Amino acid sequence: MAIESDGGRRSGITIAGLVKLYGSLKVLNGISLDIEPGAFVALLGPSGCGKTTLLRTIAGLADASHGTIDIGDRRVVDADKGVFVPPQQRRLGMVFQHYALWPHMTVRNNICFPLRKQGFPRAEWDARIMAVAETVGLPTILDRSPSQLSGGQQQRVALARALVSEPKVLLLDEPLSNLDANLRDQLRRELRQLHDRQGTTTVLVTHDQHEAAMMADTIVVIESGSIVQVGPPGDILDRPANRFVAGFVGYDNFLAGVVEQLDGSAVQIRLSGGDVVTLRNRGSGLKAGQPATIAVRSEQLSLAGASQAPQESFVELPARVAGVQGLGRWRETYVDYAGTKLSARDLADAPPQGEQGSKVFVRIPSHSPVFVD
Ligand SMILES: Nc1ncnc2c1ncn2[C@@H]1O[C@H](COP(=O)(O)OP(=O)(O)O)[C@@H](O)[C@H]1O
Ligand SMILES: [Mg+2]
Repeated sequence: MAIESDGGRRSGITIAGLVKLYGSLKVLNGISLDIEPGAFVALLGPSGCGKTTLLRTIAGLADASHGTIDIGDRRVVDADKGVFVPPQQRRLGMVFQHYALWPHMTVRNNICFPLRKQGFPRAEWDARIMAVAETVGLPTILDRSPSQLSGGQQQRVALARALVSEPKVLLLDEPLSNLDANLRDQLRRELRQLHDRQGTTTVLVTHDQHEAAMMADTIVVIESGSIVQVGPPGDILDRPANRFVAGFVGYDNFLAGVVEQLDGSAVQIRLSGGDVVTLRNRGSGLKAGQPATIAVRSEQLSLAGASQAPQESFVELPARVAGVQGLGRWRETYVDYAGTKLSARDLADAPPQGEQGSKVFVRIPSHSPVFVD
């Protein structure tokens, strides 16, 4: 059972063996996840991987095919036993990507809606609405209609509506992706600060690794309806568990090889070009003789004209420059290592890293992630 904490003001969520079928399409493929009371968790994955479906299943806006969900000490879903607690009894607030405000209602009545629906005493309504409007930074626009508001203001109203009934869980489905970049950044910070003040358990759906890393304490990476990695942002970004996660969080160079040998601190990989490189063994389940992949971000890959004596901090591979491309502030230098195309990114106004056809040494950080293929 998920735990209640803080006198029941926030709830944990425990999901076990959750499966969701749409016809024969398995959209959630046995999801199990423990969310601590007061946590800020991001569900991260590409479009179509099942993030919204998972959130809607927690909210009670979709039913499950198999599995259980507990919110606090209450079992709200047990699909195989036909248990299904309706959304308004789950004590949660939800904000969608499309603000989903009622256009014919004033801002005040939009925010009031959950209070009516959940039967809060009428005498409390005004005070609650005023307090939550202040919390989310809404100016005095309570009597306007949503069509008279900017996108950012509409999203603040949606957030106020989600918070007004003091939910124990806040579910956010890409709530910022329709806003322009500056406002999005500001609201990311504000949402995180709000969480830190109020401590409401928060689950954020996003396809944006930067947003997930900036806002959440724990990132849950989802691929095709299955959880592939759970961890703090630093772990997900620096120690992706496999090629899918690595690619999704921005690793764009991959080198294939075979594990030659390994001990507790180092792993030797024989690359397809025949070179053997020694990297840090970061304990990701590698075994001698198995195929493995090294992942490197292009901004962490550098080029040098001459080889250096062996270094602790990087390994070197001989390569040839295949092309150079300017990308605004950045410059990408493409190199060929034994038939594998790699790219090194640096600032466009830095001295060139090499010109087409020149021989270079590619430097790869020794702490680069290596995973089983
Ligand atoms: N009501 C539905 N009926 C049939 N298929 C659906 C329905 N809702 C979502 N899907 C499918 O489920 C998969 C996951 O969708 P969704 O949860 O919206 O993904 P995400 O939010 O990660 O983009 C997609 O293949 C989508 O087409
Ligand atoms: Mg979605």
